[in-house]
Amino acid sequence: MFESQRRHFLLPRDVAYLDAAAITPMAAPVRQAAESALAVADRPWAPRAVDKAGLLLCLRAQAAALIGARPEDIAVVSAVSYAMASAAANLPLQRGTRVLLLADDHPSACLVWERRARACGATVDRVPAPLDGDWTAAVLERLAQPGAAPVGVAVLPPLHWTDGTTLDLPVVAAAVRAQGAALVVDATQAAGIVDLDVDEIRPDFLAFPAYKWLLGPYGLAFVYAAPQHQQGEPLEQHMNNRVQPALRLAGTPGDYSFIPGAQRFDRGERDNLQTLAMASAALELLGGWTPGALRAHLRGLTDQVADGVAGLPLDVAPRPFRAPHIIGLRPPAAAFESTVAGLAHMNVFVSPRRGVIRVAPHAYNDAEDVARLLAGLRELLG
Ligand SMILES: Cc1ncc(COP(=O)(O)O)c(C=O)c1O
Repeated sequence: MFESQRRHFLLPRDVAYLDAAAITPMAAPVRQAAESALAVADRPWAPRAVDKAGLLLCLRAQAAALIGARPEDIAVVSAVSYAMASAAANLPLQRGTRVLLLADDHPSACLVWERRARACGATVDRVPAPLDGDWTAAVLERLAQPGAAPVGVAVLPPLHWTDGTTLDLPVVAAAVRAQGAALVVDATQAAGIVDLDVDEIRPDFLAFPAYKWLLGPYGLAFVYAAPQHQQGEPLEQHMNNRVQPALRLAGTPGDYSFIPGAQRFDRGERDNLQTLAMASAALELLGGWTPGALRAHLRGLTDQVADGVAGLPLDVAPRPFRAPHIIGLRPPAAAFESTVAGLAHMNVFVSPRRGVIRVAPHAYNDAEDVARLLAGLRELLG
């Protein structure tokens, strides 16, 4: 049994914020971490009591734990788009092959691959959205399409960001590997909530940001690089991922070889104390909750949404294809924008995504938030 964690957040009772898939509000411990970090920034001349290296090590371990990885397999970057650019710069793509994407997948996952495909003489193949919500079958069918070019790289999420419809990633990953293709995973809408295990999925790269389900700050993301890619070429050249930063050696040349592991893909100005401390505090809070209990809580809320909209003109994917924490409601096209705007007017916050009203509760939500959403939908569409 999981109790709503609303007390950690500055959420007024009359606000039903159901939009964790966009961005999450700041929990009190995360705010405290930010304030402590700012106090350090206020006094740059004072002796630094902060163990930045320790904090970074801890953060890598916290992020790695979400996906069954080792801390040294994790790079600290600025955004999922950055992670995707690193992956695109390091995976071979042969002329005449296909890059497999999902229809309407997120631009941060797709744009760099569209560009790369053009540059390499490969094509982009978007798996059309399945009418029955079964992305796994749709991707497997597309992978095996007779006469199609071989897949060079598949860029896939564990669930679709617009409506939470799921892919069975281990199953799809095995089929991708069987073609000899690389697999890049955008785990933005899954890490922290859904069980992900890189030993099972075996992605080449896998990325997720801090500011959604992890309850962390904007401007920070993590990328897992499989061990076979850890000799790759980072996007930027800086000294924070080198064995002996030259500046510390006062006049002697530094050892500019990379620290072993995925750390070579770390971004420049990685050591932003505020974001690192906030992310670590957020992951500590998240880590204190039993993952299965949180998932069951969120599943209960999205089921409450699904049951509550029965009889309204809203299409919902079948339960077996729905993630526990995101549910998409598709209204008639003419009512789409006015419904989302009407809900906001009633202090019910959800996201409009490609014709779908995306409802995404997190640990701070409860049945009363969902009741407010349902009352609003009945008023607007009933
Ligand atoms: C599926 C998915 N990927 C990536 C992102 C964010 O990417 P970035 O960190 O590049 O802004 C989002 C944000 O909504 C998303 O939903």
